[in-house]
Amino acid sequence: MAQCVSYQSGSIAGAEDGERAYAAVESRRGGPGTGLGCAVNVEVRDATPADLPATLAIYNELIGSTTVEWSEHPQTLDERRAWFERQRARNFPSLVAVVDHEIVGMTSYGDFRDSFHWPGYRFTAEHSIHVRQDRRRHGIGRLLMDELIARALRGGIHVLVGALDADNADSIRFHQTLGFVEVARLPETGFKFGHWLDLVLMQRMLDGPSGPA
Ligand SMILES: CC(C)(COP(=O)(O)OP(=O)(O)OC[C@H]1O[C@@H](n2cnc3c(N)ncnc32)[C@H](O)[C@@H]1OP(=O)(O)O)[C@@H](O)C(=O)NCCC(=O)NCCS
Repeated sequence: MAQCVSYQSGSIAGAEDGERAYAAVESRRGGPGTGLGCAVNVEVRDATPADLPATLAIYNELIGSTTVEWSEHPQTLDERRAWFERQRARNFPSLVAVVDHEIVGMTSYGDFRDSFHWPGYRFTAEHSIHVRQDRRRHGIGRLLMDELIARALRGGIHVLVGALDADNADSIRFHQTLGFVEVARLPETGFKFGHWLDLVLMQRMLDGPSGPA
């Protein structure tokens, strides 16, 4: 099975809302013993309603076998549609990564805590990111986060927070690589598969130290 080792050779910075951002992710090798390179073109763009079944499948593939998501029940398409409409209504981004016309990852952010009732939280957002299992470690997660952070900066977000299962070492490492710092560990705040789960909060400051104008 050919295994690509990837690096980002393009930049997606500067794409405007609603525009499509492209990046070429190229391989240093095409697989063990092949001596060949390969290139994968990744498009990062705003999600549309037509993308929801594919993003739902990526999300649900983790529910039954991991504690990445603290739910024991797969999400339904109706629930996903309702979430998507709430994102749109709040003007929060929902992005997808596309390779060969297939959705291979998605990311979004929303309220960290309810900023409608507690507006003091409005410059802080909590994000979520998922890359399809067979497409991980190809730089796609980084591309998605780069674009999400660009959107967050344009949206006036000051701090981005990731709330991660403490056993999710891959994601903790990923976030550390992207400049997120662990700021809190909340023991036994979750429960799944018959045991308690710890929550790790990681945050990245997006803009300077000055407050909003
Ligand atoms: C976390 C996740 C989004 C990373 O996506 P990805 O496309 O595999 O990440 P990238 O290939 O862009 O990785 C960027 C860098 O992060 C680090 N990283 C990513 N995955 C890693 C892992 N499993 N182990 C160690 N480091 C890792 C590496 O430094 C990597 O760079 P490198 O491959 O050049 O060494 C993906 O593993 C995933 O979807 N996990 C399940 C969902 C999840 O945990 N989401 C977070 C909670 S919302």
